[in-house]
Amino acid sequence: SLDNEIIRQEIKDLLVEKNAVLVAHYYTDDAIQELAEETGGVIADSLEMARFGANHPASTLVVAGVKFMGETAKILSPEKTVLMPTLEATCSLDIGCPADEFSAFCDQYPDRKVVVYANTSAAVKARADWVVTSSIALDVVEHLHDQGEKIIWAPDQHLGGYVQKQTGADMVLWDGACIVHEEFKAKGVQDLKNVYPDAAILVHPESPASVVEIADVVGSTSQLLKASQEMSNSTFIVATDRGIFYKMRQASPDKRFVEAPTAGSGATCRSCAHCPWMALNSLEMLRDSLKNSDGEIFVDHEIRRKALIPLQRMLDFNV
Ligand code: 13P
Ligand code: SF4
Repeated sequence: SLDNEIIRQEIKDLLVEKNAVLVAHYYTDDAIQELAEETGGVIADSLEMARFGANHPASTLVVAGVKFMGETAKILSPEKTVLMPTLEATCSLDIGCPADEFSAFCDQYPDRKVVVYANTSAAVKARADWVVTSSIALDVVEHLHDQGEKIIWAPDQHLGGYVQKQTGADMVLWDGACIVHEEFKAKGVQDLKNVYPDAAILVHPESPASVVEIADVVGSTSQLLKASQEMSNSTFIVATDRGIFYKMRQASPDKRFVEAPTAGSGATCRSCAHCPWMALNSLEMLRDSLKNSDGEIFVDHEIRRKALIPLQRMLDFNV
């Protein structure tokens, strides 16, 4: 629409004026992803967002995603201004793992390495030995297991269970879950597979074990996107947030991408899997955050100092 065109232009001008770059997650609206592409920013998974922000020369990072992504950017680049379209965009994993309770949990297992998923607050990261994202969780835990380490894992129980099964590591798990991925049902995915027998099944590891078990590929958003480009199947059943379809379809216009249903029936479901917090990011709020410095991220100095250690370990970890 004309309104959108005006806002898009305002954002482009503001990005230049403020020496800012847009760092967007795959689950944000198509319009935001499109802008990130057009303006020299990035569309990425959470690990790549962290790397991109830390390495980019811009003095302001505009992080379109959820709060932990903005906090991670600020911890890695305290000298940069980090803005978010909204500070209300949280994550059920972050909410489900309060720092004080988590710290008490860790105190019960002093002989274990603490590995936390990036989807946590800065204060939880400050209590950790390692931060990981879905793209390197397996590799990091395998590395620790090889060194004979026992592990505390938080907060996603599905990703934690998957990593435990794959690596055989000794892990105690926090019982958090992603409200979006937790809803995928194996029966629904199986029913779709009956409709599209040649389809490859792509699953994000925050999904329940029964869904992960029937996947052809399990991985982070970037890893699933890559698989959709590299595999020769003409159809893909995709169990992750529907925001990913923007890039999947753009990269492979001749392939068919089908949303994995979140209900038990085999019926294809329209826009069932979409993170309500990612959805809060709008073009208007993006413009306003740049214009008025609304939604600036601040992290307490002491928490930042501690959280940087496991985060930097993640970035320095070479597979
Ligand atoms: P990725 O690391 O795959 O981007 O996942 C982040 C996330 O929030 C998934 O729900
Ligand atoms: Fe958190 Fe799930 Fe939303 Fe990702 S999709 S931000 S894990 S609630």
